[in-house]
Amino acid sequence: MKVDIAVYPGSFDPLTVGHDDILRRGLRLVDHLIVAVAETATQSKSGLFTIEERVSLIEEVYADEPGVTVMSFSGLLVDFMRAHGARLMIRGLRAVSDFEYEFQMALMNRSLSPEVEVLFMAPDSRHTFLSSSLVRQVGRLGGDVTKFVSPIVKASMEARFSRDAAAKGASD
Ligand code: PNS
Repeated sequence: MKVDIAVYPGSFDPLTVGHDDILRRGLRLVDHLIVAVAETATQSKSGLFTIEERVSLIEEVYADEPGVTVMSFSGLLVDFMRAHGARLMIRGLRAVSDFEYEFQMALMNRSLSPEVEVLFMAPDSRHTFLSSSLVRQVGRLGGDVTKFVSPIVKASMEARFSRDAAAKGASD
């Protein structure tokens, strides 16, 4: 398969340096990557940023990267891919524990749309423990997330947590 465009889908709540690592590895292989922020995630999560906020944060992070487009999508990922002429999907695989969920999704997506291929990429070993949900929790509990997210994302997380704290203070 010759590839000029691929989709990198996820929840990205928030985008971490682990996502960035996979995205940059992907960009070495394809000319154009669409970062696709899902409105419907397969595993339910308590959110930090709205879909619109995630899209604009990721756009800001990759403002100088012409090979990256950021979009949100609702509905099935395979339908989004078809609508954008993409047949390759990139997913990061951090550990064996990710495998079962990823393999199940890959085969479901293939069954829905046989032309779709999934490329699993391993991140730098320094990022294998990293997940958005852990970063959300560490940030919410006052931990330092500097090593885990870009400065743009960190600033937005801090703004969100202080807004939440102010709202909580007002309602107490
Ligand atoms: O970062 P995540 O939350 O692990 O990403 C999961 C995501 C968004 C790729 C997955 O939930 C998804 O594809 N959602 C879109 C809805 C869909 O197509 N569901 C069927 C997938 S088998």
